[in-house]
Amino acid sequence: MAQQTRVAVVTGVNRGIGLAILRQLASDSAGPLVVYASTRAGTLPEGVAEECQPHVKILPVRLSLRDPSSIDALASRVAKEQAAVDVLINNAGVYYYRERISDAERADTLETNYWGTLRMCQAFLPILRNPGGRIVNVSSQAGRLRWLAPHLRPRFLARDLTLEELDGLVREYDAAAARGGEVKAGWPPMAYSVSKAALNAFTRILAREHPGLLINSCCPGWVKTDLGAQAGPPPKTPEEGARIPLHLAFGEIGDTSGQYWANDSTGDSGIGKVQPAL
Ligand SMILES: NC(=O)c1ccc[n+]([C@@H]2O[C@H](COP(=O)([O-])OP(=O)(O)OC[C@H]3O[C@@H](n4cnc5c(N)ncnc54)[C@H](OP(=O)(O)O)[C@@H]3O)[C@@H](O)[C@H]2O)c1
Repeated sequence: MAQQTRVAVVTGVNRGIGLAILRQLASDSAGPLVVYASTRAGTLPEGVAEECQPHVKILPVRLSLRDPSSIDALASRVAKEQAAVDVLINNAGVYYYRERISDAERADTLETNYWGTLRMCQAFLPILRNPGGRIVNVSSQAGRLRWLAPHLRPRFLARDLTLEELDGLVREYDAAAARGGEVKAGWPPMAYSVSKAALNAFTRILAREHPGLLINSCCPGWVKTDLGAQAGPPPKTPEEGARIPLHLAFGEIGDTSGQYWANDSTGDSGIGKVQPAL
């Protein structure tokens, strides 16, 4: 019997961890695979097409997480072309690693890492294979709730938290940051931390609302990419950084869903495990 073709969608494959994920998928040997590979330019990075196994089809697509119409257009196209999607890897993200960032940089951080990534999930949920489809949201240890003041943590962790309430929390942070009063109000100094804490929270909410799917977030570790190198010399290669997202997307994870997954240390290169949200 012919093997079923797996369908994957990966964001931010132009460079860094996303490119390492794409390269790994291009050389995948597990059977027929179609990958919708998104970049902001809509073109594939050089060399990837040549690395592709004959049973792997990589389709370049244009997507900006700050442009909702590009997200909706991609989901509509995939729905027309495929019976279902097996895996969505939300890898694209931004980090402005400095003490003070501009209002525009804060907006980019929240729109890309939080609102845009959530919209990707919502656009693809109706076409994910059910049961068994997976979403991997690439997060960061910077999104752990330990970076928030104790009074804010239970609001993110509430078992009945809704997307509307989470949106309210992010807007509350945004308003405090616009006034320059976020740290006094208990928020972390980096918008990136809030964006990834919120990403982890919507991962839990979507997993609760879609019990047939496996929806998790993860930290890839501290990885040698443009983003990772802002904080010093990272210990991990992009290939090592791709390991956890790929494991959550295609590996044996049982019925793990709604979890934050990482290695114990950001320098470890293993496939990680469930970690507490705090
Ligand atoms: N590197 C680390 O140490 C580390 C640690 C923890 C978590 N992470 C997470 O890992 C993921 C990948 O990071 P990386 O280190 O590979 O970063 P990177 O090398 O800076 O690559 C980021 C990718 O995201 C894309 N992107 C940014 N904003 C976008 C938007 N609005 N719409 C669509 N695509 C957008 C970029 O596209 P362009 O190429 O067009 O700019 C690029 O392809 C991110 O979610 C990051 O937060 C990384």
